[in-house]
Order: sequence, then structure tokens, then C-alpha cells
Amino acid sequence: MELKIAVLAGDGIGPEIMEQALAVTKAVCAKKGHTLSLKEGIVGACGIDATGDPYPEATHNLCMESDAVLFGAIGDPKYDNDPNAKVRPEQGLLRMRKQLGLYGNIRPVMTFPSLIHKSPLRADLVEGADFVCIRELTGGMYFGQPQGRSEDGNTAYDTCIYTREEVERILHLAYKFAGQRRKKLTVVDKANVIATSRLWRQIAQEIAPQYPDIETDFLFVDNAAMRIIQWPKSFDVLVTENLFGDILTDEASVITGSLGLLPSASMGIHTSLFEPIHGSYPQAAGKNIANPLAMILSVALMFEYGFELMEEGAMIREAVNASMEAGIVTEDIADGGKAYSTSEVGEWIREYLVHSS
Ligand code: IPM
Ligand code: MG
Repeated sequence: MELKIAVLAGDGIGPEIMEQALAVTKAVCAKKGHTLSLKEGIVGACGIDATGDPYPEATHNLCMESDAVLFGAIGDPKYDNDPNAKVRPEQGLLRMRKQLGLYGNIRPVMTFPSLIHKSPLRADLVEGADFVCIRELTGGMYFGQPQGRSEDGNTAYDTCIYTREEVERILHLAYKFAGQRRKKLTVVDKANVIATSRLWRQIAQEIAPQYPDIETDFLFVDNAAMRIIQWPKSFDVLVTENLFGDILTDEASVITGSLGLLPSASMGIHTSLFEPIHGSYPQAAGKNIANPLAMILSVALMFEYGFELMEEGAMIREAVNASMEAGIVTEDIADGGKAYSTSEVGEWIREYLVHSS
């Protein structure tokens, strides 16, 4: 198979973890006889520095022409503390999501046996937890207009908008995932207070009968936040709107024990995109200490969801698990043992892939 991949390493630790992810991608492609075309694009703070735009048109065109996008991270502290900055790296991310039509963000939450003790939750609560959060990514308060400030600057407003079409397509995507898993879908909303949530719930109730083999249940977001911590094993597929999904997926990520382990996929109308959920971690940039596993696992998701190459994805997962079992891990999960560098972990995994049968 020929794989045309757009590589957007972005800011902070993005380039370092991407380097390892690409080495892994190349090793898998060499082994399985796939031809690989990698083309780089700039995005985020790097995009602003180079062109004044965090998502330049050339980058968008590259993404549109590719079969998949591998994305590192964006964000730079020099923008975080400046509320008056006219252009921000995050705007690039949001525009990229919107322009590529990436309405479905898939964030799997899983545990790794060798890391259970790193979870802030009790082992018996998290052992075997395995669910997928599906976050709507191109609607809601992130994009609703009007958004802004009153003239005197003392009042600010955001608008949360969802259309039937937006809600229907994300729910169908969520049902598709639930159908391939344990056949349970939890719709998370705030229908007791918010109009958009009431639309979500109404549409979910209308659609549910089309999926008779899937159990649909509903939770208010505050209750869901509690249940994710109290009883993570009760979830299979959880679907929710953009802002709730942003918050709940950070919460859910702690179950695993390290934010450095969780990959994500964003899919929708055009090219799908694969990225770690951890962000640009500027404090670690350039130090060769960041955990490359979430980025490498994003490559696994790319093979699986982007190209339906399940074996290739499984090979990567196996190599990642082996590295953890062998204790070849970065400082965030080293737990008093030896901490390896980003490139050492990446190289170990690549070697494992080259030599595994
Ligand atoms: C995420 C991030 C982004 C979001 C930020 C960086 C804009 O937190 O992907 O979850 O809020 O969507
Ligand atoms: Mg977030």
C-alpha cells in the first residue's frame, strides 16, 4: 500500500517525539512492504514565526492531499500569558479541525499492566478499564458566534450552538465504535440546564432504535465526571459535545497513570489526523526527556483507523508494551528506576520492530 502522510510536528516537544514516531512508521512500512511518502508542514507557534499564520494555506493544502496527518503538538508559553495576542497557536489548531472537517475526536483510555501503580486511583478500580471517549470537535462553544467582549471590556460572551446535522453525525460515529466494542454507548450532556444538550438528548433518543443491539444510556456531565473516577470500568463508549469532551478526556487520561501515553484520532469529512493528547510540554522541549509513547501509539491508531491496517497497529502496540515491560521508559513513568531519553525509548521500539517476527 502507498501511504501519503502529512507530518506536522509543531511546537515544544512535537519535533522530538515526531522523530521517534516517524522512525517507527518507517520500520513498520519497511517490514510490511508499504511505500511511504512523508511531507512536512508547519503549524502552531512555528507557523506564526515563519509566516504570521498558525495554520498556513500551504499546510492545509498538504493535509488535504495526504491520506493521513500525523500531528505533534502546538502551543508556546509566550502566547499563554498574553491575553492581548492577536494570533495564537491554538487558533491554528481550531482552524485545522474546522477546515479538515474533523468533527469526531476519538480518545481511547486504556491501562497498561506495568503502570497500574502510577494511577492516582486504586488499582482495583482501574485494572482493565478500557473505554473510548468520542468528543465532538468542530462545534459548540469553541466555534459559536457571537463570541467576544462588550465595548467597555467588562462583559464577555460565548455562544454554544449545535445543529441537528452536527449532532446526528457524531452520534452515528459513536454508535459505529460501540458496535465494534462492548456495545454500550453513554451520551453525556447537561440536558437539565442547557438547550443544546436537550437537542443532543432528543436526537440520541431518536437514533437509538436504529441500533437495537447497543445499550444507550445518558449521564449529566457533572455526574459523568464523578463516575469516570469512581467507576471507570462502567464505560465502553462515551460521546459528548466539544467543551465537555475537552474536560472529561483530560480527567480520564489520569486513569492511565501518565498523560504521555494517550493517543487520539480525529476524523470527519477530509483527511483524518492522529495526535497525542498531551500537548507541547514546553518545559521539556529540546531536552530529549519527553515520553514518545503517545505519539508512537498515535501512529498505531493511524494504521488502524486511517488505513485499516490492523496488524501494523498491533505490531506497534506490542512493541510499546514490550518497552514498558522491559523498563525502557522515560522519566515520567520511570518510578525511581532508570529513566531513558526520548530517543533511547524510540530506538528501542524501532529495534524491537525490526527484529520481531
Ligand atoms: C485539546 C486541547 C485543545 C482543546 C487546546 C490546545 C485548544 O486542550 O486538544 O484537548 O481545547 O481542544
Ligand atoms: Mg484539552
